[in-house]
Amino acid sequence: VTTDQEPVIILVASMSGTAEMVADELEGALRATGQASKIVRMERASLAMFAKRTNYIICSSTYGRGDVPDNGQAFYQLLVQERPDLSHVRYGVVALGDMTYTATFCGGGAKFDQVLAELGAQRLVPRMQHDAKSGIFPEVQALQWLQGWLKQFRLIAAHS
Ligand SMILES: Cc1cc2nc3c(=O)[nH]c(=O)nc-3n(C[C@H](O)[C@H](O)[C@H](O)COP(=O)(O)O)c2cc1C
Repeated sequence: VTTDQEPVIILVASMSGTAEMVADELEGALRATGQASKIVRMERASLAMFAKRTNYIICSSTYGRGDVPDNGQAFYQLLVQERPDLSHVRYGVVALGDMTYTATFCGGGAKFDQVLAELGAQRLVPRMQHDAKSGIFPEVQALQWLQGWLKQFRLIAAHS
């Protein structure tokens, strides 16, 4: 790992800690492959970071009526209202939810996915959606998803 390697930023919005735990696992897995990454809780995220960093993984659960968790609300509103040009940004979304909420399943992650795409960011792989009732551990599903994300990430890095 070179020290000037740009870290992948893992942006986390979580209410009861599941998304944070998943983010920790993703960060560890990236580090194990030699890819630097950094977890940023969304209440600490700003639009200024987009000027410095290119690669993002959004890790968000869902609350209310398909809403993003409280600590991600302000950041989500910034994206919706300020509408920064994110055409240089590459991202993937790990959405957590529960199928019991049929109409709003994984809505928090879906909201981030939609606004980032609208702002021109490039989605590297389709959004992951975890169902808390599935019996599958979210971190297991996320680490599997990460393999696909990494493959795309490296393909693009090799061509840029
Ligand atoms: C009060 C409450 C509301 C929720 N609303 C939704 C919802 O609308 N849609 C959904 O897919 N999941 C919903 N969930 C499920 C959570 O998103 C899911 O359990 C997730 O894994 C929690 O992650 P966290 O611990 O990072 O917040 C809700 C959970 C609670 C407790």
